[in-house]
Amino acid sequence: MCGIVGYIGQEQAAPILLEGLSRLEYRGYDSAGVAVFDQAAGTLAVRKAKGRLQVLSDQLHGGADLNSTAGVGHTRWATHGAPSDVNSHPQVSRSGRIAVVHNGIIENYAALKTFLLDQGVPFTSETDTEVVAQLIEYFYEGDILSAVGRALRRIQGAYALGILCADFPDQIIAARKDSPLILGHGEGCSFLASDVTAILRHTRRVTYMEDGDLAVLTREGITCCNSLMQPVRRKVVQVDWEVDAAEKGGYEHFMFKEIMEQPEALRRCLSPRISKGEIIFEDMALSKDFLRRMSRIYIVACGSSYHVGMVGKYHLERLTRRPVEVALGSEFRYMDPIVDQHTLVIVISQSGETLDTMAALRQARQLGGHILSIVNVVGSSIARESDQVLYTWAGPEIAVATTKAYTTQLALLSLLALWLARELGTVSQEEYRAALAAFQELPGKLEQVLARRDDIQYFASKYFNHNSIFFIGRNLDYALGLEGSLKLKEISYIHSEAYASGELKHGTISLIEEGTLVVALGAYSRLFPKVMSNVLEVKSRGAGVLALTTQTHQEEMARIADAVMTIPEIHELLLPCLGVVPLQLFAYYVALMRGCDIDKPRNLAKSVTVE
Ligand code: M6R
Repeated sequence: MCGIVGYIGQEQAAPILLEGLSRLEYRGYDSAGVAVFDQAAGTLAVRKAKGRLQVLSDQLHGGADLNSTAGVGHTRWATHGAPSDVNSHPQVSRSGRIAVVHNGIIENYAALKTFLLDQGVPFTSETDTEVVAQLIEYFYEGDILSAVGRALRRIQGAYALGILCADFPDQIIAARKDSPLILGHGEGCSFLASDVTAILRHTRRVTYMEDGDLAVLTREGITCCNSLMQPVRRKVVQVDWEVDAAEKGGYEHFMFKEIMEQPEALRRCLSPRISKGEIIFEDMALSKDFLRRMSRIYIVACGSSYHVGMVGKYHLERLTRRPVEVALGSEFRYMDPIVDQHTLVIVISQSGETLDTMAALRQARQLGGHILSIVNVVGSSIARESDQVLYTWAGPEIAVATTKAYTTQLALLSLLALWLARELGTVSQEEYRAALAAFQELPGKLEQVLARRDDIQYFASKYFNHNSIFFIGRNLDYALGLEGSLKLKEISYIHSEAYASGELKHGTISLIEEGTLVVALGAYSRLFPKVMSNVLEVKSRGAGVLALTTQTHQEEMARIADAVMTIPEIHELLLPCLGVVPLQLFAYYVALMRGCDIDKPRNLAKSVTVE
């Protein structure tokens, strides 16, 4: 979850590192640090500060205080040891000659620390990362690469590492296992980073390190070796993301920018896949034979991606008549899942790096499942380990709260459901045509919803002071409520729960009292009357109701609810893609009015690469 950046070249390193870190702050932001070679003194200069990157940047006058052309930087999401100057990275060895930045968790750090303490090695921090720096020094006999290799063989867990050794001022060492790390190839310079956005201004030529890889970065280029220290060649790929795609572009927050980008992101995601009335998935590896024998579908994901799966279950079961299970990545591997060679496992992840999802993918694969992933980040670990990838092409998403990744994942999964139904012969020609037409209307209808954002801002101004908000709905609306509730709580810190509205009477209704706010979702026409009954139930117990429905039902809903948000009519396959937008905007405006740090909510990070 932490962010790593490294640079070796001709220019001053510290400003480049700080600028790169500013693009990685979404990965963690409780402290930051840099280490550079102090060429004149022949030592490492390490500077760290608790708090946002800005604190460090101010201390270093934007990097001008550090004179060096090579170094590494880090922005932290604390796991071992509270956020503090001393626990920030880089962590250094006892002599101060080896500095390490790390993303991941060293699982056997306690045993290694005991071993090193017994050897008389003193520790200054509570981090697992300091163990790495000390262990490398313990093995160091003049060959830093060999010392790193020996240390890594004793380390269990996940890591992306950037390592400096004062005795080797012309190189940076990088290593990865189960945590993302990329290498950037520039003219007379080399980079390493957790994510391409950190180095996109400098180079588009990147290499995705493989698990177990070690790399040596110099000004002349990069060499890689595998875990057995054998030289290996890794592919250099060209990244085609726009540089300014990862900038705020005049918006106050990335989240708002990304909400507004959704129509465009959906066009990018859908247009190339629909042509002449047919769905086209290039290089689709699901053979007719596999589909004929396919006995079940598993969807595995975390957080909002899991909510996409919840919607997907309704669509897939209705359209394909195959049983669909949705599992949280963090639960999947502990639940003895029933997966075999006739199971399609759909893995959903924006980042493509979520550790729990990745672990589930690996287990599903071991059990023989066919892995199809829906991923945003090209070349990410999940993408690389899948049998088949469908990219969402949403562009970089920076805000911790996902928006455009969610809608594109959802649209793509819905398109996949329709395609599967067509292949399996379980959808009528009429429905196929009608649904396909709806996909083409989706971006335009989403623009209509965004154009009415002032209404949502007004509702947010009415309700932002509530301490607890319930979301209720049935079927697709229930799945939508899960996402609406998560959006709200993660950025506004308001306690919120989503319930299938039929469940209220089985317990939760006891929490409804005078003034409780209930967001009632009634966009799914088939179940509109049922949701109306639930709205009456909560109203008669004193709740205030903010409803969401389609234009068709607006009047009827307005007779009972206190306020109504509306979306245009659309085929039910795409209802949640439209319906989520007012909920995203509601969460955004509520958080804005409460003065929250919208793009970097407390305790969270964008890419969750720890278990
Ligand atoms: O990158 P992924 O889609 O695998 O991430 C999964 C979750 O961590 C993510 O969706 C998280 O719940 C978001 N912060 C929600 O806005």
